[in-house]
Amino acid sequence: MNAQPAFTARQSRIDASVRRALIAAARAVRRNAHAPYSRFRVGAAVWDESDRVHTGCNVENASYGLTVCAERNAIAAAIGAGAKHIRAIAVASPTRPPATPCGACRQVLAEFGDAHTLVVLAPPTGTATDRRLGALLPESFGLR
Ligand code: THU
Repeated sequence: MNAQPAFTARQSRIDASVRRALIAAARAVRRNAHAPYSRFRVGAAVWDESDRVHTGCNVENASYGLTVCAERNAIAAAIGAGAKHIRAIAVASPTRPPATPCGACRQVLAEFGDAHTLVVLAPPTGTATDRRLGALLPESFGLR
């Protein structure tokens, strides 16, 4: 855990061009998903506190429980690159309405984001939907 409480009042403002770039990055990395079991390909793109974008896709395993979601892979890439805070994440999935992050990924997002962290839910084409992490995961678990 870092020095931040899971949810602070830190604002995550995002302009339209960053939001569009995040959606495009999530849709692009979705093509690399390893999803031979579910065929449900997901891509995620994280926007960090230094204006950098980090991506990840879901990686399934023949031992199904070892599957890692796109969101957690994108977050791991961000943290590995030195990111400390997640301002926004876009999640691209094959369905309409688009998938929302699973409960585990919401909790992992809460570790590095805050209630204002923007979660952009993108269908394969067309208009994406915005949510705030505080709405997706109220009263997240935290030790601090
Ligand atoms: N999956 C994600 O990558 N992110 C989500 O938000 C929902 C589910 C993946 C896990 C698995 O590879 C496939 O989608 C079907 O559950």
